[in-house]
Amino acid sequence: MPNTVLIGAQWGDEGKGKIIDVLTQESDIVVRYQGGSNAGHTVEIGAQRYVLHLIPSGILHAGKQCVIGNGVVVDPLALVAEIEELAGRGKRVDGNLFISDRAHVVFPYHRALDENRERLRQKGEKIGTTKRGIGPTYGDKAARTGLRMGDLLDPLFAEMAAERLAEKNKILGALGAEPIDTAAVQEAYAKAAQVLAPCITDTVTRLNRAIREGKSLLLEGAQGTMLDIDFGTYPFVTSSNATAGGACTGTGIPPHRIDRVIGVVKAYTTRVGEGPFPTELTDATGARLGREGHEFGATTGRPRRCGWFDAVVARYSAMINGVDFWAITKLDVLDKLETIRVCVAYECDGRRVECVPSNIRMLDRCTPVYEDIPGWQTPTRDVTRFEDLPARAKAYVERLCELTGAPLGILSVGPRRDSTLRVGA
Ligand code: GDP
Ligand code: IMO
Ligand code: MG
Repeated sequence: MPNTVLIGAQWGDEGKGKIIDVLTQESDIVVRYQGGSNAGHTVEIGAQRYVLHLIPSGILHAGKQCVIGNGVVVDPLALVAEIEELAGRGKRVDGNLFISDRAHVVFPYHRALDENRERLRQKGEKIGTTKRGIGPTYGDKAARTGLRMGDLLDPLFAEMAAERLAEKNKILGALGAEPIDTAAVQEAYAKAAQVLAPCITDTVTRLNRAIREGKSLLLEGAQGTMLDIDFGTYPFVTSSNATAGGACTGTGIPPHRIDRVIGVVKAYTTRVGEGPFPTELTDATGARLGREGHEFGATTGRPRRCGWFDAVVARYSAMINGVDFWAITKLDVLDKLETIRVCVAYECDGRRVECVPSNIRMLDRCTPVYEDIPGWQTPTRDVTRFEDLPARAKAYVERLCELTGAPLGILSVGPRRDSTLRVGA
């Protein structure tokens, strides 16, 4: 059974949650490897809609094990709330959820720092973060001042947290923000620790043992390649490696144990938050894509910026992640369009550019070179076999694969589990 890494190939919200849910059937263990509660992964099962933030999207399948890897930053209060919400809807995680003792803890001061730094950034420099404390927590991890989930169970935890709070309250004061109450944090985190204690464990050894026993792992990326801290549109990125490389460092699984990489890509492009987006449509067509695709952030509810498919971005993602095949989602959103445009290259300062420049000021100056593809203007939602798609829809998908250099494996034509076509994968 293969071990699979699944990544987002654009700016997040590609429909990873849905594809993970479908692939969980064929896997034994689903593992989140980076990010935190900034993620919002939607899974629709029948009339039920679930949005998962920290818990792997595999949890909705009874009996599957789910792991929050060491590369994730965990807000214990948000995690407990998510566990309780699921339990309230009849989905209990007992015995199936494992949290790495090496995963870093998000504190209220991380959230406060995230919010205040964002508030103080000048217009044009704001990142538009989710304000979930992600950047400051990864910052503390790199600065070696973070606390980890294993520490949450240590008798010295309250003392260690108080030390951090003393420093962070000085910084918050300097930023003109309210201090955080130490006793309240200690109490809330002690309570959360009690709930989470049975789940906190050495997931690194556990996962490597599972691989030796022949179990099949599905490694779930959050965010997307263009939000990756190294390969994305820095500084308009998140603070972790959302690309396939992050799957090894975020779980402790060696690279040669990964058998395949699936890239999830929308049939058009969206982005939430600030930063360059060459194919963005600020006109009626963009608004139409947002409307037809219900493009609102699953975590913050913000409207997502919408635009045409950017083959330069997808080709770059295929290269960095080593995408073996695509899961193309939301094809149905394009059903009514007369003409669909695809960006095949950029033009910048009078030159043709074929790959994503590292300099965002240059990326900002890039204008898309478009190819126009005729729309199929036929509903695709009820199609269950690739062969039965309208010829123009097939031609569109085939063109995306040709332009991006990776084949199609999965095609999604609706939010439900059964609106998923497998194509040779
Ligand atoms: P993720 O963060 O990558 O898991 O994606 P989100 O859940 O944030 O956003 C994807 C949205 O598209 C969710 O509302 C899904 O229910 C929905 N979705 C996923 N696949 C499809 C599809 O093929 N067609 C349509 N219309 N919606 C889809
Ligand atoms: P999923 O997993 C889309 C964006 C934010 C902001 C930037 C930095 O659902 O695809 P952060 O809070 O991480 O410091 O914000 O990254 N962002 C996402 N956009 N989908 C996500 O996750 C995102 N997680 C963060 O909007 O621009
Ligand atoms: Mg999302």
